[in-house]
Amino acid sequence: MIKTITIEELKPGMFVHKIVEQKGDLSVKSQGRVSSIEMVNVLKKRGVKTLAIDTEKAFTPETKEDIPAEKTAPEPVTTPAEKVKKVSLENELARASKLHAQGKEIQRILQTNLQKEMPFDGSIPKEFSNKLVESVDRNPDALLCLTQIREKDDYLLEHSLNVAILLANFAKFLGMSEEEVQDLSYAGFLHDLGKIKIPDEILHKPGKLTVSEMEIMKKHVQYGVDHLKETDLDEALIQAIGEHHERLDGRGYPYGRKGDEISNAGRMLAVADMYDALTADRVYKAGMSSKKAFAVLMNESPVRLDKYYVQQFIKCLGVYPVGSLVMLSNERLAMVLQQNDSPFMPVVKVFYSVKQGHYLTPKDVDLSQEKTVTVTKAVIASEYNIDINAFFERSVSIG
Ligand SMILES: [Fe+2]
Repeated sequence: MIKTITIEELKPGMFVHKIVEQKGDLSVKSQGRVSSIEMVNVLKKRGVKTLAIDTEKAFTPETKEDIPAEKTAPEPVTTPAEKVKKVSLENELARASKLHAQGKEIQRILQTNLQKEMPFDGSIPKEFSNKLVESVDRNPDALLCLTQIREKDDYLLEHSLNVAILLANFAKFLGMSEEEVQDLSYAGFLHDLGKIKIPDEILHKPGKLTVSEMEIMKKHVQYGVDHLKETDLDEALIQAIGEHHERLDGRGYPYGRKGDEISNAGRMLAVADMYDALTADRVYKAGMSSKKAFAVLMNESPVRLDKYYVQQFIKCLGVYPVGSLVMLSNERLAMVLQQNDSPFMPVVKVFYSVKQGHYLTPKDVDLSQEKTVTVTKAVIASEYNIDINAFFERSVSIG
């Protein structure tokens, strides 16, 4: 279907059928898929005002654009984009585990440096986030599985790392260039650095913050931005980091930017940030299942979050995201290891019997090849007293 949109509505993944209105006479290649945010900016600079897009040729179809925000999570109608896997999951997990541990350590050092007001040195974290993207290139499922590891007191370290992993996957899913994938992942890794300056009693307060506590909490964005501004870090990256709590309706912080004033990278960062925060287990609360978190993201769009990016993010992770837990029809619990063509029948590792209340010898099962067993629902580890870290050490990670 051909649909006319403004340049402001153009997003990576859409297929441009033709340019409808253009200021100036610089010639623009009129047909093709928009591969990156950079390309959207080039079109803007060349004076393109309105374009006709072919929704059927979109890398990610537009058909869900009109779905209203609902109370229940949308079930993606398409499987995530074909992920090229250069090495097996087992193979990549060994390397990814080491990277994961290294990432937490680097994050800890960066936070300490900020706290001591030492200058930011980007060389090590930049190299690290490039390695993270290389791991996603080899096999995205390994790091995605590892996002499930949560140490009780390491939320701040793991959250930044997870957002970096999620953004690397998300940017690749949207067909962005390698450089853009690296930049977004790097922005994710650095986005919450300023939180180290927030007093512990506010940062780790169980329950709602008071108005004055919230005002202090909000400062973490500016602390981070100020710290990073003193270096040669790319301006666009700092902008995205500064915008991760902005809202499209202008009621976010710290700037209160509205709509188009918020960059695409800032919008993507906001989605990944919220998803990880919702699904994370904290000392005082269990994380939500991915399904519930998807429903919250949908409800927050388009008022707060960018609806297009929310929809694409959900498609990117799939109905049952890699690393999430599912209940099977035979009353066994399993971890999703890999997406299949059928989004409802992933490859899983079965490891726990709910009926008998004990762990089983872990076994990989491709549900698309199984005639009798199906997924009944998405679950969370705490509902069944599952120690996901111990499970990892025993049966998934080899590092
Ligand atoms: Fe934040």
